[in-house]
Amino acid sequence: MPDLFSPFTLKGVTLRNRIGMSPMTMYRSTDGKLDDFHLMYLGARAAGGFGLVFPEQVAIAPEGRTGVHCAGIWADAQIEGHARVTSMIRTMGGVAGIQLGHTGRNGSELKPWEGGLQLSPDHRDGWQTVGPSAIPYGAPKRPYPVHALTVEEIKAIHQQYADAARRAADAGYEWLEMHYAHGYLGASFFSPLANQRTDQYGGSLKNRARFHLEALDAVRAVWPEHLPLTMRLGSDDFHPQGTQFEESVTAIGWMKEHGLDLADVSFGGNTDDMVGNPWNDANGWVARAGRIKREVGIPVTTSWNLGVPQNADAAIRSGDIDVVLLGRPALANPHWPVWAARELGHDSPFDLVPEDWGWWLKNFRGHAPSIGWPAVAGPPDADEVVEFEADLAADTTVGDAVPVPAGARHD
Ligand SMILES: Cc1cc2nc3c(=O)[nH]c(=O)nc-3n(C[C@H](O)[C@H](O)[C@H](O)COP(=O)(O)O)c2cc1C
Repeated sequence: MPDLFSPFTLKGVTLRNRIGMSPMTMYRSTDGKLDDFHLMYLGARAAGGFGLVFPEQVAIAPEGRTGVHCAGIWADAQIEGHARVTSMIRTMGGVAGIQLGHTGRNGSELKPWEGGLQLSPDHRDGWQTVGPSAIPYGAPKRPYPVHALTVEEIKAIHQQYADAARRAADAGYEWLEMHYAHGYLGASFFSPLANQRTDQYGGSLKNRARFHLEALDAVRAVWPEHLPLTMRLGSDDFHPQGTQFEESVTAIGWMKEHGLDLADVSFGGNTDDMVGNPWNDANGWVARAGRIKREVGIPVTTSWNLGVPQNADAAIRSGDIDVVLLGRPALANPHWPVWAARELGHDSPFDLVPEDWGWWLKNFRGHAPSIGWPAVAGPPDADEVVEFEADLAADTTVGDAVPVPAGARHD
């Protein structure tokens, strides 16, 4: 039975463990480029033992960014910055993944800590947002009119995805995830809340999934066959009129036929008006992903509140998910895998860092608390430990429900 530290092979790529750093938007790019900041930040997580390292959502077009400071790969001039990052991640023993995205009707925004509000199309740093239908996400956050894409424009976006995938391969990425969750363009095509088209891209489930299937075809045609192609999916809007989880299970089966190698299961994000708060959940996400894995027969991953090492390990051991993705824990601790290995009693936690560091640490008091490595802290509080059950009925929250601040977003 695999555990958190077992290697994981998908297509021709093997991760040294089941721990991935989830994509996180940094708002630190100029002209969409990755620079020294990204090299430092992403290289540090690879050196800290993460098996899979994602930069943030990387835009396939300028108007596919969240805001003007977001990263992109819509031009060949952006390849070099990405190539520096992938080379560093590889040198540090990790696999570099890229998350390609288009924010659709949820772009043209200020940074979250500057208020996160949408900018009007005529603002210097704003643009005309696009979506399946002319339905804005809604005031107060995103009040501006949305341009409903024509069929010709939809095909052009598929081509932008394919061009971006070709550049990603040139830059040395070995794992490609398409971001079709969290209210962005792909998620909005799937959701009746955002998609009220009457043509072949709207209405029935097959029509609402057409955008995904065509995009997978376009990317698979250029992305090397031996490299994983995955998708972060907005599997549920938690709203009676939105995307329903059952529909997602069916549609992921079709996506598998169109070249999807792994499903990264997340929320739809097409409304703030959700029943419950999936952002505070952990075992529900693992159970949902596990159901997709069993019913569709496809490897899966998920994120959301898996930062307690015992929980992350249990999620892998349960067989429900194949890889754990960590967002905030990876921000907080670049050596989270080393900490987790020590917490879980791994034989040789310092094997996770570069060989020379490991040699010093194994042989010269690396285990002493004074060394400054994350100390072995003992088991987590009882209310943080989650019992994972391969059962959607076990959909409870972890610990106390954390109120979500106004303007908060989960890119
Ligand atoms: C600062 C920040 C930026 C994020 N940006 C992205 C992003 O670019 N793409 C994405 O799919 N999710 C994004 N997310 C969501 C994370 O990838 C992850 O799914 C989420 O934080 C849950 O994992 P966690 O509980 O381990 O933090 C972001 C989260 C944070 C905290």
